[in-house]
Amino acid sequence: MQEVDDAYCLISDDLNAMEQLASQLLSDINPFVDEVVRYSLRLGGKRLRPALLFLTARAIGEVTENHIRAAAAIELIHTATLIHDDILDGASIRRHLATINVQWNSHVAVLAGDILLTKAMELLTQSTDIHGFHRITIACRQTCEGELWQIGTIGNFNISQEAYMNIISRKTAPFLACSTELGAYYAGCDKKCIEHFRYFGQQLGIAFQMIDDVLDLTGKQDTTGKTLRTDILNRKPTLPLILYIQKASKSEINDVMIRLNGSLDEAAAEWIANRVRNSDVVKDIQKLAESLIDTAIESITHKTHTIPAIAGLTAIAKFITTRKN
Ligand code: IPE
Ligand code: IPE
Ligand code: MG
Ligand code: MG
Repeated sequence: MQEVDDAYCLISDDLNAMEQLASQLLSDINPFVDEVVRYSLRLGGKRLRPALLFLTARAIGEVTENHIRAAAAIELIHTATLIHDDILDGASIRRHLATINVQWNSHVAVLAGDILLTKAMELLTQSTDIHGFHRITIACRQTCEGELWQIGTIGNFNISQEAYMNIISRKTAPFLACSTELGAYYAGCDKKCIEHFRYFGQQLGIAFQMIDDVLDLTGKQDTTGKTLRTDILNRKPTLPLILYIQKASKSEINDVMIRLNGSLDEAAAEWIANRVRNSDVVKDIQKLAESLIDTAIESITHKTHTIPAIAGLTAIAKFITTRKN
């Protein structure tokens, strides 16, 4: 998508500054620790949250040192949550490379995630205005709560769509909301404007996880760069399965439940994914995500904002529903 490339181009200096800061921060005198933590922040991630933060800042004013620190901290903590998530999900590929739990083991992965998290905290305390530290800490806690809420629903495919939306609002939306919020805050935006950008990020985050859960069933590992079908293998009640079970006939539900309740292997997971792929639910979720994105875009359309940066945010918002990675 040309518009997304243009958006990243607009903030390439900001992203480079952030990469440099993160890379300096991750060096360690111990060669093993150095190797592990550097491997953790490997390229291949979309750097979506920093991109949202910098574009928001540029939509309002200038990018400052506080923005660069906040973006680096958010990307480090997001990466830490992925490292830990891969242990929870038993995933073997992340950002096109072996996960840390596979390359080394889960002990190494727990500690690598903790190091990234605490380096980010150290970085945030260096700011004169630690509002970002406060907001990022809350987002981080909420992400962990969301992951735990989801664990509490494992195997229960009768949960409501509302319960699912609550989980992903807790698990995935906070870091995107925090990125746009802090982009606006450190650019000197007033309270109302900060709230609009926060809402924009929150809606994007919800749509992002809905599409991610579709991609787990429809995507290709080579394109996403991560292990797929783990939601089914781990019996997570994600929206595609919840809606499928709400809409399917008794015998279709029975076919799926026999496999979900049995010794679920990769072939069975693929069989279930195929059933869901061939139903209407993928199209329905796509539409739902698109409508969330449309409302989100409306919330930041304001005549005083800088046009190229708003165009960039709009392009990224739209990419969320069309993405393949
Ligand atoms: C993956 O996030 C985890 C979810 C919230 C679904 P991203 O898709 O943004 O991961 P990277 O940073 O690009 O690897
Ligand atoms: C976890 O969701 C995302 C986090 C907030 C850590 P997923 O388990 O769906 O993320 P992926 O698909 O592994 O990236
Ligand atoms: Mg996962
Ligand atoms: Mg996923």
